[in-house]
Parts: sequence; structure tokens; C-alpha cells
Amino acid sequence: MSTHIGAGAGAIAPFVLLPGDPLRARWIAETFLDDAVCYSEVRGMLGFTGTWRGRPVSVQGSGMGQPSMAIYVNELFRDYDVQTIVRVGSCGALSERLRVRDVVIASGACTDSSMNRITFEGLDFAPVADFALLRDAAAAAPDAHVGLVYSSDSFYASRPELLTRMVEHGVLAIEMEASGLYTLAARFGRRALAICTVSDHIVTGEETTAQEREQTFGAMVEVALRAGLGD
Ligand code: HPA
Repeated sequence: MSTHIGAGAGAIAPFVLLPGDPLRARWIAETFLDDAVCYSEVRGMLGFTGTWRGRPVSVQGSGMGQPSMAIYVNELFRDYDVQTIVRVGSCGALSERLRVRDVVIASGACTDSSMNRITFEGLDFAPVADFALLRDAAAAAPDAHVGLVYSSDSFYASRPELLTRMVEHGVLAIEMEASGLYTLAARFGRRALAICTVSDHIVTGEETTAQEREQTFGAMVEVALRAGLGD
């Protein structure tokens, strides 16, 4: 047991998929994993371990935003010796090159979060993906967009005009976790990647239906599994 994850020692695999939504964690476990067992229901943030093509995989909900995600990722790395985490989530498109349902693989993450500002005392740390995970995910998803995302602390931004700066600097999409995930992987010397499907377009206003989100989400999970297991 860790503070927020109710799993015993050895109950979590070295490779973890990390959706924000705990019900997505259950859907991934039921859809992709064999012999999946729920190892934690603490605060409803479900976690499961099973196998994919014979190899152990866990899937853990992280909640929304960097503070919630960081609780689970700290405990996965520190208390369960997890080696690889691949976030599977959604993002809002910023670049006009993107369409809803596209997949974005985050090579690095910008942020407005104070978490790194406090850690690095005003210096700018550049949170980046693990290279091998990035390479393998890009190879498994040739149509995906690979580039920067913007990990914002606010879904409802008080200054949305600042997003223009990100667009002008080639940032592809906005989400809420990658920057913190990459920073924690660097701190613990572990591997991390964030893969997101575009659920809505911030510039054009285009949106996806729930059914479309489920289909594209499934394709992305397969890419994450292949990259995480080096398949
Ligand atoms: N902002 C932040 N995260 C998101 C968004 C958004 O507009 N859409 C999907 N994830």
C-alpha cells in the first residue's frame, strides 16, 4: 500500500498505462488485457494489472491535471518501482494542421504550472519524452503528429489569448499532465511518454462524439502498448 494506491508489493507491473479517467483505466483493462485484476479502488482512482501478449501491464487512473497525476506517478515510481509510464489521454488541438481524432505524441511539454518553477527556482527545465518510447510510438503510428504540447493547469483559462504565443511557437496541442510526468520521470531516472488523441479543436471549435473518442482512444492504446513493451 502506498498513500493513494491500495496495491500490495509486486501487484503493479513495471510498465503502466496512465489514463486520466479511472473509467478509461477499467475500459483499457477489460478491452486489452488478459486476466486483469483490480489492485486499487482508493478514491475511485482505479488501477488494474493483467497481461498483453503474455507480458504484464498495469493501467492506473491519474485524475486531471498535474497535481493529481503527480501523486500517482510519484507513488508508482517510488513505492512500486515502476520503470515506464505511458500517458494515454486527450488534448485540444492548437495547430491548424491538426484535426479532431488525430493522435499527438508529445516529444516535449511547455507549461504554465508553478510545479517546475518552484522545483527549479526560476530556471527553466525542458521536460522531454524518453527517446526510445518516442521513437517506437512514432514508428507504430506513422500518421501521428510528433511535437510539443502545452500542459496547462487551467482547463478554463483566464487568459486564453496567451495560447496564441504557443501556436506561434509551433506547439501542437493543449493538455494538462505531460510536463509534470516528464519531469518526474527525469527525477526518478525512469521512462515516460504522453500520447493524446485530439478531442476538440481550440481554434476551429470542431469536437468529437463519445463514440469517435472511444474508437480513436483504442487505436492510441495499442500504440502505447507496442511502444511501452518495445513490440
Ligand atoms: N485543455 C486542456 N486539456 C484538454 C483540452 C483543453 O482544451 N481538451 C482536451 N484536453
